[in-house]
Amino acid sequence: MAKSGALDLATGIGGKIQKTEVESAVDQYEKYHSDFGGDEEARKTNYSDMVNKYYDLATSFYEFGWGESFHFAPRWKGESLRESIKRHEHFLALQLCLRRGMKVLDVGCGIGGPLREIARFSSVSITGLNNNEYQITRGTELNRLVGLDGSCSFVKADFMRMPFPDNNFDAIYAIEATCHAPDALGCYKEIFRVLKPGQCFAAYEWCMTEHYNPKNESHKKVKAEIEIGDGLPDIRSTNQCLDALKQAGFEVIWEKDLAIDSPLPWYLPLDTRHFSLSSFRLTTLGRLITRTMVKTLEFVGLAPQGSVRVSSFLEKAAEGLLEGGRKEIFTPMYFFLVRKPVLDS
Ligand SMILES: C[S@@+](CC[C@H](N)C(=O)[O-])C[C@H]1O[C@@H](n2cnc3c(N)ncnc32)[C@H](O)[C@@H]1O
Repeated sequence: MAKSGALDLATGIGGKIQKTEVESAVDQYEKYHSDFGGDEEARKTNYSDMVNKYYDLATSFYEFGWGESFHFAPRWKGESLRESIKRHEHFLALQLCLRRGMKVLDVGCGIGGPLREIARFSSVSITGLNNNEYQITRGTELNRLVGLDGSCSFVKADFMRMPFPDNNFDAIYAIEATCHAPDALGCYKEIFRVLKPGQCFAAYEWCMTEHYNPKNESHKKVKAEIEIGDGLPDIRSTNQCLDALKQAGFEVIWEKDLAIDSPLPWYLPLDTRHFSLSSFRLTTLGRLITRTMVKTLEFVGLAPQGSVRVSSFLEKAAEGLLEGGRKEIFTPMYFFLVRKPVLDS
């Protein structure tokens, strides 16, 4: 079970960072971003420190609001948020034709919500790769609780330098994770290297769409809000990702922004006009209650100093995501299925 109580939220803030260091970690994290004088180059050079600080600070909020899977999904009418998230995970498994006996890699696996769902859905063994130690500790515990510790495991490493031999996996997927890479080509090349020839990689990427105009100030503001609120060095366009995949050597089987056909908008859970009991903590009222609760817990010393500031930059992320979704300049579900060609001998 995901940690979803108020006390779990409070005590988890900061992850592996010492509780007395949380406030200064927030300072350091914020300084990477443009609102606080930071620039893209510094974010790219120090991506590992920036992203790890972000997930140490934010993971317990994610678990509290989203559960075990930290991603969006297209939404059908009559479907709950949880159902849509599961279906989005199954879609990847089906696109990759996962089946018993395959050795699969989940790149940037969070606390392993999708990994556990896909491992059970497709009867495969999955290795979750993640650079954040706190999330791996949580994921290992959750795997053990559902009896998947024998077939699934985690490896702590950077997806820009994976500790795996060449041609090692039968399938690879990434869900809303490779957007943290300082350079898409470098990351896709690593994935290409460890995938067996003839096998496939599928992902959901966070991207700016063709409607994004880098000269439009309100568009730039949305992009910056998403970057600071979600620990991203620089959000790439769908075309930049597609070019990087081809340059890395992949054959593109198909690609599509799944947000375009989603019957209900993917950002519905964050929409100020939307109310839902099943995803209450993500609604405007739910977020306001969480913020007040975190303030109280920080005041009485149960949550570390700096917790309210974490909750504030996550609020900023929600606002940026919502605006980006409404303006159709941003998507968290640019899907692609690509294959590593079999070389002629
Ligand atoms: C938004 S979360 C998505 C997690 C998971 N895929 C899910 O859907 O629940 C992004 C994940 O990417 C991981 N990540 C970011 N940069 C990484 C890197 N350089 N190497 C490995 N993992 C990374 C983060 O630690 C986090 O677990």
